[in-house]
Amino acid sequence: MKLGIFITFEGIEGVGKTTQLQRLAAVLQERNVPHVLTREPGGTAFGQQLRSIILDPSTRFGHQFTEIMLFMADRLEHLAKVIEPALESGKVVLCDRFIDSTIAYQVGGRQLPGAYVEQLHSLIHLVPNKTVLLDVAPEEGLTRARGRAKLDRFEQETMAFHHRVRSMYHLCASRDPDRFAVIDTSQRSERDVFNDIMDVLTPVIWPDS
Ligand code: TYD
Repeated sequence: MKLGIFITFEGIEGVGKTTQLQRLAAVLQERNVPHVLTREPGGTAFGQQLRSIILDPSTRFGHQFTEIMLFMADRLEHLAKVIEPALESGKVVLCDRFIDSTIAYQVGGRQLPGAYVEQLHSLIHLVPNKTVLLDVAPEEGLTRARGRAKLDRFEQETMAFHHRVRSMYHLCASRDPDRFAVIDTSQRSERDVFNDIMDVLTPVIWPDS
């Protein structure tokens, strides 16, 4: 059985992951590559319910671990119902955020103890084949994100929070340079960034080309 390819996209708010993922999915569609475009949180019906609670600015958790438990529940259902079945049927799975988001936001941003978070992640054995980290300074990304309609609970966080998230992403990338491709998006056109993404992913998706 040929296993599929698991590709994740990561980055801070407003970095343009969603737009780039849509472009990439369109290329896969054109070239008849079976694929699934999905995201966390919210890749299942159950996950969408969790997503609305997690992102609602009026949500206040009493315990520091409640939020990460909801992201974990979202991820476990997403793995079992969407990601693993798609990979088992040989598809390319494009996922907007995965485990690295939890490390960046909950360990970096929220400063939860990393050892506990690692224990939670020991439940998950799947590692992405490639992770594209789109990078931008929080000042630039947040300005883009804040130009959109309503701010969610994370977009309302302080600049210091977003700087910690970005630094943790960089640390993750430096620890695993084979898996991560870091692409600078600062002051660059969507098209230029997309060309870089294609340079990174072409050998992963079409290894024989
Ligand atoms: P979303 O609207 O999907 O953000 P974006 O469009 O920037 O990708 O909102 C998801 C938010 O949830 C985002 O701020 C990052 C946060 N998040 C975590 O804090 N931990 C996680 O494990 C995941 C998957 C997301």
